[in-house]
Amino acid sequence: MKAVILAGGMGTRLRPLTNEIPKPLVPLLGKPLIRYIIDALPDEVDQVLIAVSYRKDDLQRYFEEHDLGLDVVLVEEKEPLGTGGALKNVSPYLDDTFLAFNGDIISSLDLRAFIDFHRRKKGIGALALWRVEDPSAYGVVSMEGERISSFLEKPPPDKSPSDMINAGIYIFEQEILDHIPQGTVSLEKDVFPHILSLGLYGMVFDGLWVDCGTRESYLEAQRLLIGGRNVYCEGAEVSPLADLKDCTVLPGAKVGDRALIRRSIICPGAEVRAGEQVLDSIYLG
Ligand code: GDD
Ligand code: MG
Repeated sequence: MKAVILAGGMGTRLRPLTNEIPKPLVPLLGKPLIRYIIDALPDEVDQVLIAVSYRKDDLQRYFEEHDLGLDVVLVEEKEPLGTGGALKNVSPYLDDTFLAFNGDIISSLDLRAFIDFHRRKKGIGALALWRVEDPSAYGVVSMEGERISSFLEKPPPDKSPSDMINAGIYIFEQEILDHIPQGTVSLEKDVFPHILSLGLYGMVFDGLWVDCGTRESYLEAQRLLIGGRNVYCEGAEVSPLADLKDCTVLPGAKVGDRALIRRSIICPGAEVRAGEQVLDSIYLG
């Protein structure tokens, strides 16, 4: 089976982290975001297609330097084509049922169970669904049993039909590609609402899920994963007298004596001086 990762967004909501690196390579606990998806793929996935446009060369270099033990192909869009256009652009590589992911999420979804769910339902595709208190920043679904009966991308506050959102993890039949027009297309706005009659199913899961695409959610993901400890990357210099909790200190960063740091990421080259406080920050120095 093949897996597509949509990784061509500009990552504007993660600036300044994405000034120098593409969002898929932004480190979470020192590991690039996209690796959280790739490392969790079930064994039956033998090829990963990464739909890229912005900063393709950085990604190319990363995959040349790191052998992940499976075939990784970068498929470029000259101009970003939107989430639907990006899938269409990858279609020459797709010949069967495939998985697809938004490239900025981490999750504990059991992908084997998700694949089985889709095979039982026999629809054109399935979405993993996650419950949130405020769905307005996401794609929101209504359900009839396990079948999605409406899909609304980023509804206005208090106009959400439910608290169940699109978690950005999909399994599709190849046939979905016939329903994506050429050009710039949003999967969420221009495709999902029109293919509901072909059987688009939703599997609700719980455990862990975060879209790491904003500064706040990225720090939240770190806090959830790190559980009160710290990650010191190779080449980070941290004074034994500094007090840190829920932090990552990236390579080449320095932390001085008695610095107090909470729930933050200290970026390469940044220096937290002696006695300085850093709270809930992506710290660039
Ligand atoms: N190749 C390519 N080309 N990838 C793209 C493009 C494009 O033009 N535009 C966006 N992407 C990638 C992004 O890099 C990201 O990995 C993924 O598609 C989703 O785009 P975001 O910009 O992060 O969307 P969002 O977070 O506002 O909303 C999406 O994710 C939510 C869950 O996190 C939607 O799918 C929502 O429905 C969903 O609830
Ligand atoms: Mg996102």
